[in-house]
Amino acid sequence: MKIIILFACLAVAVSANTQEQWKSFKQTHQKSYRSLIEERLRYKIFSDNLEKIEQHNAEFEQGLITYKQGVNQFADWTEEEFIAFLKLNGPAQKAKSDEVFEAIKSAPLKQDWRLSGAVTPVKDQGSCGSCWSFSATGALESQNQIKNGKLVSLSEQNLIDCSGSYGNEGCNGGLMTSAFEYVQDHGIMAEAAYPYEEVQRKCRFNKSKVVLKSSGYVDIKENSETDLINAIGTVGPVSVAIDATSKLQFYSSGLFTDKTCSKYALNHGVLAVGYGSDNIVVKNSWGSSWGENGYVRFTRGKNLCGIAAMATYPKL
Ligand SMILES: *[C@@H]1O[C@H](CO)[C@@H](O)[C@H](O)[C@H]1NC(C)=O
Repeated sequence: MKIIILFACLAVAVSANTQEQWKSFKQTHQKSYRSLIEERLRYKIFSDNLEKIEQHNAEFEQGLITYKQGVNQFADWTEEEFIAFLKLNGPAQKAKSDEVFEAIKSAPLKQDWRLSGAVTPVKDQGSCGSCWSFSATGALESQNQIKNGKLVSLSEQNLIDCSGSYGNEGCNGGLMTSAFEYVQDHGIMAEAAYPYEEVQRKCRFNKSKVVLKSSGYVDIKENSETDLINAIGTVGPVSVAIDATSKLQFYSSGLFTDKTCSKYALNHGVLAVGYGSDNIVVKNSWGSSWGENGYVRFTRGKNLCGIAAMATYPKL
């Protein structure tokens, strides 16, 4: 009898805790739902996710996993919803550059372009499938700083609205290389002049407000992580595509690794900005409260989740 009472108390304690976290989650991420039915459904998803996160972190505490998970803006999304949100067009659609990167000098043992002021603050794509545009602007911003000494935040909205004829599909996906081709032909406006709206609208490009033009792009040899590291080390941040599986949905800190992600089914565009002996530092576009201040450290040396499968950087 005593045992039954104890269990009942535990159950209450757990669910009260879940409800508190639910309240604070809704407040932090300014969540509001259209109906009570939707709210109940989201609460159920949140509770299930919270349970998985707590299970994961228990394994982290035991030293079985090298990274931690946490509640973030995706905590009321199912795994299916998260996968559907990842919108990078497949490698099959990618045009190939005439130029393939060749390592001409040896790379330093570690690199971090954030330390030399070559990386803009982390941005947030919201619920628009525009990862590709953030990866592209990130690489262009860094090359501009490295070559011209100017760190100017560039407009994703410009790419989302205007690069359709290059094969990009706004919030429904796109490719970094197609964005680089657009910027080669037209140039790109600054973030401040053409701010992000989280939806695709008609193109409002103004040629007289172009702040940067590129002159093509260089591909990293497919699946050569050695070349990828050398390019990050000697040239600057590189646009990379990954299979962002559900494991990344709740990543919060540590050395990310995942045995289940694919090296071929690439679905998310991000920016590799540095590396250490055991990691590649990746800038994401899910806001600065996701991961390590908006970044994730990928385990190095495994071509993890296809990080070296479709890597490219723009030439200025
Ligand atoms: C384009 O920008 C220039 C310079 O700021 C401005 O004078 C012009 O009116 C703009 N054109 C349009 C169509 O908005």
